[in-house]
Amino acid sequence: MKTGTACGKIILFGEHAVVYGRPALAVPLSQLRARAFVERRAERGIVIHARDLGRDIFLNDASADDALAMITRLTLDKFGVTDNLEISVESDIPLASGFGSGAAISTAIVRALGAYFEKSLAPAEISALVYETEKMYHGTPSGIDNSVIAYEQAICFVRGQDITPFQIARPFTLVIANTGIASPTKITVGDVRRGWEQDPARFEKIFDNVGAIVEHAQDALARGENDRLGELMTRNQRALEEMGVSSREIENLIGAGMRAGAGGGKLSGGGRGGNVIFYVAEERAEEVGRAVEEKGAMGVILTRVGS
Ligand code: PMV
Repeated sequence: MKTGTACGKIILFGEHAVVYGRPALAVPLSQLRARAFVERRAERGIVIHARDLGRDIFLNDASADDALAMITRLTLDKFGVTDNLEISVESDIPLASGFGSGAAISTAIVRALGAYFEKSLAPAEISALVYETEKMYHGTPSGIDNSVIAYEQAICFVRGQDITPFQIARPFTLVIANTGIASPTKITVGDVRRGWEQDPARFEKIFDNVGAIVEHAQDALARGENDRLGELMTRNQRALEEMGVSSREIENLIGAGMRAGAGGGKLSGGGRGGNVIFYVAEERAEEVGRAVEEKGAMGVILTRVGS
């Protein structure tokens, strides 16, 4: 049996504005992983066992809009091979939460098939294949998920440009709190688009502001001036609020985290649900985690970024 794995991801700065050409920063979450296993099947055909969903997908019967079937087909075509295969996937990355679970599962499948057929692909090639399935989940995805996950490195992402992995000079602690509210990215991206169509000047100004925040954040990370990150997160959150993608639950969690001593906080990803992230001094992390849990967060992750 051959195995492939892939990490989760979290956006630090720049979501939504990234769809409009501004830069965004995202980092891998290596402790959250999706795994795929490939082995030869005794019977004919290819079947994918989605263990977490309790679903078996037969490639021949799979509809064109099944992402797991799609990535399998695309990868086999890319390699120019086929075989009778059992593919199993499992993941500890929560679904629809902004952790890139879809891109991670697809990436794990590409890697497991690569191991099985002894073919290797560069991160850019994996990213391009996975992007095709991302379109299914998100409509018009910027490509940030497939990029950070395929490279498994902190990246500064600008739509349509080459990926630039960036160095984090000093590791820092991030508290990630899940609102427990599933909020499809497709919907918030669509709402921001409508807002932009109605008042392009206002939205362009917000996006420019986010672009500047991202540049400051990248500069702070490169210089190890981590104490600037909290305030930059809070400024980015205000811009997201202006775009209309925050929510009462998000604001409540941010308030609780800030009162418990976080340096700054913001939503991460599509918004209206999903995750909230906090920049915290290491010694405050437990306290901030407890405070957001008491406020109703459905899952709290304390993680070191850049180490
Ligand atoms: O919800 P996530 O983490 O998949 O991120 C969505 C990020 C957006 O900028 C809102 C959309 C995109 O495709 O970049």
